[in-house]
Amino acid sequence: MEIVVQPDGAAVCRLAADLVAALVAARPSAVLGLATGHTMVGVYEELVRRHGGGLSFRAVRSFNLDEYLGVPPEHPGSFHSFMAMHLLRHVDLPPAQARILDGLTADVPAECEAFEREIAAAGGIDLQVLGIGGDGHIGFNEPSSSLASRTRIKTLTAQTRTANAAAFGGEGQVPRHVLTMGVGTILDARRCVLLAIGERKAAAVAAAAEGAVTAMVPASALQLHPAVTLIADEAAASRLARRAYYDEVYAGKPEWQR
Ligand code: GLP
Repeated sequence: MEIVVQPDGAAVCRLAADLVAALVAARPSAVLGLATGHTMVGVYEELVRRHGGGLSFRAVRSFNLDEYLGVPPEHPGSFHSFMAMHLLRHVDLPPAQARILDGLTADVPAECEAFEREIAAAGGIDLQVLGIGGDGHIGFNEPSSSLASRTRIKTLTAQTRTANAAAFGGEGQVPRHVLTMGVGTILDARRCVLLAIGERKAAAVAAAAEGAVTAMVPASALQLHPAVTLIADEAAASRLARRAYYDEVYAGKPEWQR
């Protein structure tokens, strides 16, 4: 895993946007795996700014990690709303090419299987952007998720419901069930970028990058992937034991690899 520490959250978001923008510029029909959450807000702000500077998403296809079950797309807490508000309303990515799981589906297994088939039909995900939960989850793959899991229904932990309470006007209103790409689905992406900002993520980041690969920390499965970049700010990186080494590796990265 490549580990890159940046001075602050804004720099994390800029670097993540650089990676997405470079891919889209080089391959206008790239397939992006997109994420939601506070961490992503600054990344999308940067991408919208770059769209203003000429970056086009017209031929891009995107697949979002997850969605709440039973929540209508127009609900302000839905990830459909999040994506519209922070990215899709502001760039030229056609709505039909931005796939988000249907939280109102009457047939959960069929919706999850269709989602997997659509990713495969698009040729797989070129770049998957990920945040990390305080408990080490990626997407909504909570601790104990199978590391081979595919897109499916999951039950949120109390910790995650608390973390996401604001969007629903209180913890009691947060749905218990969600649909999420599986850990195995995420590992199929050709490249992954894991973003972490703030002290609240420090323990999860250390466990994911330096701990054992375990279903108790779903993000640790990324250690099995050949092309992962973790971008963390100083606070989120504060519990990494090998921090000096990561800085040395990044500073000495050969130009041809950049
Ligand atoms: C949610 C999302 C994850 C995200 C995580 C962290 O649970 N399903 O994809 O990574 O929250 O969110 P935040 O960036 O708000 O801390």
